[in-house]
Amino acid sequence: MSNLNPLGTLTSIDAVAACCGDDCCSDGSVVEISHTQLETITAAVKHQYGALAESAAERAADPTRRKATDRYYSADQRQVLPDEAAGASGGCGNPVGIADAKPGETVLDLGSGGGIDCFLAAKEVGDEGFVIGIDMTPRMIELAQKNAANLGTENVVFKLGHIESIPQPDNTVDLVISNCVIALSEQKDRVFSEIQRILKPGGRFVISDMVTEAPLPDEVRASAAEWVSCVGGAAVMSEYLELIEEAGFTGTEVLKQERSRPDAVDWQTTLINLTLRAYKPA
Ligand SMILES: C[S@@+](CC[C@H](N)C(=O)[O-])C[C@H]1O[C@@H](n2cnc3c(N)ncnc32)[C@H](O)[C@@H]1O
Repeated sequence: MSNLNPLGTLTSIDAVAACCGDDCCSDGSVVEISHTQLETITAAVKHQYGALAESAAERAADPTRRKATDRYYSADQRQVLPDEAAGASGGCGNPVGIADAKPGETVLDLGSGGGIDCFLAAKEVGDEGFVIGIDMTPRMIELAQKNAANLGTENVVFKLGHIESIPQPDNTVDLVISNCVIALSEQKDRVFSEIQRILKPGGRFVISDMVTEAPLPDEVRASAAEWVSCVGGAAVMSEYLELIEEAGFTGTEVLKQERSRPDAVDWQTTLINLTLRAYKPA
């Protein structure tokens, strides 16, 4: 890492570092990060979630592994999801369960992973609606496409891309959803301005993410393993809300807020699983 970086050297990430599943996810847009570190974090995130995509079937078949879907999704929702999509789940909330997507709407999911939220949204928007999943990890896109083929879902498309530069035209989306992904981005301000760009006037987002009550210790923010767990990059909630306001959203509403690790100690007690809604002005 560069000497210019105040956070110290990134710790190396091992192959079994946790994903944003049972207890993870946070945002770091306010952290000062060098170019070198940024590349390292992105590479680490891609590596980790590529590995998660490859082990999705194994995870799904292992009853001792508690998946994000077990914790956050209803039995009805779980029933319609392919095993491998649940096996790759890494969310910290259930945005589709709250978002109230309407028939005919266009929905875009940022960091779609194995596709769980896209498949649930596809049912809600119906044949007249359309769902787009965006993910930067090629193996996740391949897994999501395989899951879509197995489900026979025709109103969903998965695109390789970055949430900081969303491959979608301006003013074309009714509802943006995301589940524990923006915490993994070093450029959260850019993500929110991209959401603002692609939403139709009056459109909305419903996002679940990891945030914190107070700044995390420097060593946590500098750890690649904590970043891929959606923790190292978790933003302080008040700063996260400011970013949303600065991007031009209105009517921001906290839909759900709960301690991420209720039994934890020290800094881990400050982690929050947050679900928010906000609107692009009409
Ligand atoms: C914690 S998982 C969540 C996946 C899914 N939303 C879910 O709930 O199961 C994070 C996903 O976001 C993707 N991701 C992380 N950072 C990204 C970025 N900057 N741009 C696009 N995708 C990203 C990862 O490849 C991974 O599939």
